[in-house]
Order: sequence, then C-alpha cells, then structure tokens
Amino acid sequence: SDAFTYDPGFTSTASCESKITFIDGDKGILLHRGYPIDQLAEQSSFLETCYLLLHGELPSASAFEQFETTITRHTMLHEQFDRFFSGFRRDAHPMAIMTGAVGALSAFYHDSLDIQDEKQREISAHRLIAKMPTIAARAFKYSVGQPFVYPKNDLSYSENFLRMCFAVPAEDYVPNPVLTKAMDRIFILHADHEQNASTSTVRLAGSSGANPFACIAAGIACLWGPSHGGANEEALNMLKEIGTVDKIPEFIQGVKDRKYKLMGFGHRVYKNYDPRAKVMQTTCHEVLSAVGDPNDPLLQVARELERIALSDEYFVSRKLYPNIDFYSGITLSAMGFPTTMFTVLFALARTVGWIAQWKEMIEDPSQKIGRPRQLYTGSAQRDFVPISGRA
Ligand code: CMC
Repeated sequence: SDAFTYDPGFTSTASCESKITFIDGDKGILLHRGYPIDQLAEQSSFLETCYLLLHGELPSASAFEQFETTITRHTMLHEQFDRFFSGFRRDAHPMAIMTGAVGALSAFYHDSLDIQDEKQREISAHRLIAKMPTIAARAFKYSVGQPFVYPKNDLSYSENFLRMCFAVPAEDYVPNPVLTKAMDRIFILHADHEQNASTSTVRLAGSSGANPFACIAAGIACLWGPSHGGANEEALNMLKEIGTVDKIPEFIQGVKDRKYKLMGFGHRVYKNYDPRAKVMQTTCHEVLSAVGDPNDPLLQVARELERIALSDEYFVSRKLYPNIDFYSGITLSAMGFPTTMFTVLFALARTVGWIAQWKEMIEDPSQKIGRPRQLYTGSAQRDFVPISGRA
C-alpha cells in the first residue's frame, strides 16, 4: 500500500549517511570530520579545511603542498569562457552569472561527465575549488565595469581572490593581511553545513548521475534564495533600513506582529547560538578596526538588536539566535564587497562542501536516485470534456 511519511521541509527525514559534518543544534556544536569549527577557523586555512572535507583527514605537510600546487594549477579559465560574462547584461546579478557560468564548465571539461572514474571525480573537485574564485571575481569585475584580473599563483587562495576582485590592472595591489585573514576565515565558516537545502539539492541532482558541474550549478541556484544563502544580503539591508538604534523597538514590534522576519536570526537546526556566528562577530570587529569604523552605526544597530532579541520573550521562547549571516553582511561590506556579492562568496566557499558531499554520495553503494513521494490532494479521476462542451 502507499503508506508514506509526510514530512514537508524534511524536518525529520535523514536522506543519507555522512561522515563529513556533525551538527548538534541544541548545544550549538559544529564539527568537520570531528574538528570543531572554531578551532579550524582559528588554526587552519581554507585550503587545508578543503583537504580535510574532501579526504577525511588533515594533510601532512607534503600532502598539503601537493594539494596547494594542484589547486593553484587549475585556477585559470579558458579564454573562451570569458565570452559568457560579456553575454550578460551589465547589471546582471552576479548570482545569475554564477549559476550559468559554473554549469557551463561541463561544456569545457567533457571528461568530467565520466563520474564513475575516481580520478575524474577528483580532478573535477580540484577544478571547482580552484576556478570558483576566478569565476566569482570575474562576475564582480563585470558588474563594476572593470577589466578582469588574472590569477596570480604565488599568492594564497584568499589573497589571490581579493587581488582578482580589487586590483586594478597595472596597479600594485597588496591585500591588507587583516582582510586576507578575514576572507579565509569567512570561507572556512561557510565550507560545509551537512544536509542544508543547497547541499541536498546537489545530492539530489547528483543522484541521477548528472555531472559535478551541473550539480554544483543546481546548488548555487538553491543557495540564492533569501531563506538560505541570500539571508546575509537581506540582513544587511535590514540593518540599513533600521538605520539607528532608536528605531529598533518599532522594528521588533513589526517582527512580533509578523509583518517581517528578523533576518540573520533563527535556524532550522541550531536552537542555540550558531557557533559560526561567534567567530563571525570577532572577525567583524577585526575588519572594522582595520579598515572600517569600529563605531559604525550599523554595528551599533546589530549589537543592540542582538542584545534585545536575546532577552526578549518572543525570540527566547522560539530559540531564535543570531546565525552566521547576522554579522557577515557588515563585515563583507566593510571589506569592499557590494551586497550582491555576498551570496557569491558563500557559494565560492560552500563549493568544497557540495563537492565533498557529492563524492561521498557517488562512492556510497547504498545511494539510489532521490525520488520523494507525495500525498496527492488533487481531483479524482474524471472524463475529458471537449472544449466546446466546457462552461
Ligand atoms: N524572525 C522572526 N521570527 C522567526 C524567525 C525570524 N528570523 N525565524 C523563525 N521565526 C519564528 C517563526 O515565525 C515561527 O514562529 P511560530 O512558531 O510562532 O509560528 C518559529 O520562529 C519557528 O520558525 P520556523 O519558520 O518553523 O523555522 P524554520 O526552521 O522553518 O526556519 C529559517 C528556519 C532559517 C528559514 C528561519 O529562521 C528564517 O527565515 N530566518 C531568517 C532568514 C535567515 O537568517 N536565514 C539564514 C539561515 S543560516 C544560513 C543559511 O542556512 O543559509
């Protein structure tokens, strides 16, 4: 018989077994391959975390050197690829460009279509991690009407990315070390988050045997939504709209009256402080002290909003705590990124999580094509009526 469990939003359905990321939402714990996120954010680098997520263990010095060299070798894009960018409208949202451009990588790397070949899977993972900064930086440069900057491979992953975004050709651009560190940390904080909407999308797309570039493009499309990766953009817009601390009570009342949500608050899994939000808050202070205004009115609004929300019955009873997006918007904005780039940076960092989860799924013999069932609530069977006989 057709007896299904009805679970809208998959709040109580596990879709897979995974060894990559562990979350305890009640305690506010996030571990990658067993390592706490705050230790990785403090002591690791993004590329090392990529290796960890992909391979399951931290690399030895020589394994890391080889991994770094491999990633560095894959950062270039084919010159033909640049024509994609010029095909978009000047004011195209960079996420629209990302969705199209990353999917199009499969048109350049036909060998990646052989997903049963372990070597090809690994090369595709390397290509994606290596090329995402180049594609993301070009989406940004295109939106501001500046010429593309080519990767410079003697720089670190994050330095290279900042240079491709902010250097103007012929100028000697050296990223501020505080910003490089912040960028790397922001990438680590976004690297993976188990079976969230975009990762589940990647797995579902991949379960049919689709190629990895197509699957990651599907993940990017899902991430774009304001309830997911688009929330940091929304959170900053909200802080700007509130503007000053004295407007907060009125704003909070609007949330309670359910006119709108407090963006950057709440999480499906964390019913405690998001451990990433703590690191993000520290990073925010470091960046503002280095390049912004530590007394930035938006930061004041954010702090006061957080203080009120953490003591207000409405938020406390619903276990609504700040999530990673609450402080990332202010930080990225101080670093020079327009709001339209926020989700792009999230996509860049999450690519390693997506591809690690995709690989794990392909290599798991128990995985089948994803095919949820439904509870049908439409019309019962009836006979077709010719158009002349319809009311
Ligand atoms: N502001 C005000 N009320 C909220 C909020 C919020 N941000 N989030 C949840 N609630 C209320 C909600 O109205 C409901 O109240 P009630 O029980 O009275 O109907 C209760 O809290 C439970 O919420 P829910 O909608 O059942 O929770 P969910 O697990 O379906 O939603 C969420 C999780 C993240 C989509 C939601 O909290 C939200 O929309 N937050 C704002 C957007 C945001 O910051 N998203 C970023 C998430 S972290 C990064 C990422 O995953 O991309």
